[in-house]
Amino acid sequence: MTETPRGQLAGTVALVTGAARGMGEAIAREFVRRGARVVLGDVLVDEGRKVAEDLGEHARFVPLDVTDPDSWAHAVTLTLDTYGTLDVLVNNAAIYTTSPILDEDPAQLERILKVDLVGPFLGIQAAVPAMKAGARGGAIVNISSQAGVQGIWAHGAYGAAKWGLRGLSRTAALELGGDGIRVNAVLPGAIDTAMTAHLGTSEHPAAALGRIGRPEEVARLVAFLASDDASYLTGAEVAADGGASAGRMPVSTPSGGGGRGEGADEK
Ligand SMILES: NC(=O)c1ccc[n+]([C@@H]2O[C@H](COP(=O)([O-])OP(=O)(O)OC[C@H]3O[C@@H](n4cnc5c(N)ncnc54)[C@H](O)[C@@H]3O)[C@@H](O)[C@H]2O)c1
Repeated sequence: MTETPRGQLAGTVALVTGAARGMGEAIAREFVRRGARVVLGDVLVDEGRKVAEDLGEHARFVPLDVTDPDSWAHAVTLTLDTYGTLDVLVNNAAIYTTSPILDEDPAQLERILKVDLVGPFLGIQAAVPAMKAGARGGAIVNISSQAGVQGIWAHGAYGAAKWGLRGLSRTAALELGGDGIRVNAVLPGAIDTAMTAHLGTSEHPAAALGRIGRPEEVARLVAFLASDDASYLTGAEVAADGGASAGRMPVSTPSGGGGRGEGADEK
């Protein structure tokens, strides 16, 4: 009997949102590297097409606006038409802006909640019927954030969405476990993508590892959660943050080196 190699995704079909760049792109690349076929969804059409073309025959791009149920229906149909099944959904797409609560523009609050929380909700609604129709159950990975487990100054809207996504994840895990569908959340710390470009540094004083993370480091965790190696994990939340959520680092290190303190930006 031949077994699927451990940690691999051969035979798996995945839909990854926000895959035109950043973590979503890294996740799509890691999935294909492990043998999956991947549909990349994003509102950035040119960028997304380019990534899919670069990945070759095992990848396909679909224009997807996660706030639109019709757009989701189209993406799921295209996945089924192209690859015959849908096993994995990665709800990665999000937008990020910061503002103190009292200064927040109500329209921007709604926009963030719509993309970062309603989007994954609609994605679960669209993808699960296809997963149930398949032979292998399924896996959903929701990309939350360290801003979804702690309060961070000026992260009222984004934090509310990312906290909400954890609640959605756990609830979906409870509701879908009977169908063999696992649902887990990933909580990245600061990761080096366009979203964090304004930070302009690879240092991260509040992380035990002292640096921000690379998209590939999150992608490998997502691939594990999507694979059968994680067959008994559901409703879980896994941090990928260099230790930023483990506790507080001293303001100056015991060796006297300066600057490891609080206040580093978390997403
Ligand atoms: N970068 C970080 O430090 C960090 C930290 C914690 C969590 N996260 C989370 O990781 C995920 C990926 O973030 P990233 O850093 O790669 O950001 P990014 O901005 O580089 O990528 C986000 C992608 O989502 C897409 N997107 C935005 N709105 C969309 C919509 N309505 N429909 C479809 N796609 C849409 C964007 O076009 C973009 O390609 C997000 O959920 C983000 O909240 C990021």
